[in-house]
Amino acid sequence: MSQVRIIEVGPRDGLQNEATPIPTELKLRFIDALRQSGLPEIEATSFVSPKWVPQLADAAELWPQLPPGPLYSALVPNQKGLESALKVGTPRIALFTAASQAFTTANINRTIGDSLADFREIIPAFRQSVTNGWIRGYVSTAFECPFQGLIHPDQVVSVVRALFEMGVDEVSLGDTVGRAGPLEVCALSAGLLDAFGTEVQGEIAWHFHDTYGTAIANVQAALNLGYRAFDASAGGLGGCPYAPGAGGNLATEDLVYLLERQGIRTGIDLMALSQASLEILAHLGREPSAKAQRATLAKL
Ligand code: HMG
Ligand code: MG
Repeated sequence: MSQVRIIEVGPRDGLQNEATPIPTELKLRFIDALRQSGLPEIEATSFVSPKWVPQLADAAELWPQLPPGPLYSALVPNQKGLESALKVGTPRIALFTAASQAFTTANINRTIGDSLADFREIIPAFRQSVTNGWIRGYVSTAFECPFQGLIHPDQVVSVVRALFEMGVDEVSLGDTVGRAGPLEVCALSAGLLDAFGTEVQGEIAWHFHDTYGTAIANVQAALNLGYRAFDASAGGLGGCPYAPGAGGNLATEDLVYLLERQGIRTGIDLMALSQASLEILAHLGREPSAKAQRATLAKL
């Protein structure tokens, strides 16, 4: 089977929702452990307002200390975030909006239209400053919104279209609240294929939260449909502070196990990965809870 990309979002999505302050040095050790496990792409932090997400207020301090090796990216919500990202030389940025108006307002204090208008200014400014820069566009609440309920695939497709027209390199579709099931993945995929053709499969990543335990089934559905990029968070850490009821992300350990078990080589050392989040979990006073992580650690 062709190669699958794993985008580790633990240092960003995994930590942003945690109330206990995590020192920058501890985040850096976490990132280094992720790097050593073989993860090639890591979303390291966010250049968002520290009032909205206090946990990631150290983005500018963290970025220059990232250990070399992986491709690192960071979330950018607006022009100010872009300026901060450019100041420290961030080569890969992730813009974020949503398919639901209510969630977009709760998360970034903007309408979807306003956020897209912001991106129309941010994208050329970034491209002008960064040679070979890379831009991801997130579309959150791609299946269900905590405020508006179920989201029709057409709503998602229209935001994806706007992002592609602006020239993003990839769109990540977020099941922000972690409630979708495989049939909804198939329905959204059908909408995407209808709108954009099979080329879209190389330009979409899936970002499943695992609130109800369906994330891994959703990955398999997307794999069967021909998609090859998945976001995940070591130890299943994660959640969005502005999405009530959102659980942790799909655990990277579960994803790696699922892929390797069907002969898709990831290049990731599952034991090293399973250990990577242990220090952060201990700092947060939690036991490992991701299934493949626990099963792997049990071999020690
Ligand atoms: P706002 O309050 O409307 O911003 O927030 P504003 O432009 O009115 O500015 C208010 C203050 O914030 C000002 O400071 C600005 O300078 C400052 P003051 O004058 O009051 O001292 N400010 C900033 N500071 C640092 N960096 C910035 C920045 N921008 C403004 N970039 C804003 C609007 C977008 C800033 C805010 O709503 C925000 O930061 N939201 C981010 C929320 C967030 O990070 N959510 C989680 C990430 S999304 C997610 O988790 C979903 C995802 O995982 C996919 C999925 O699961 O679906 C990606
Ligand atoms: Mg998320």
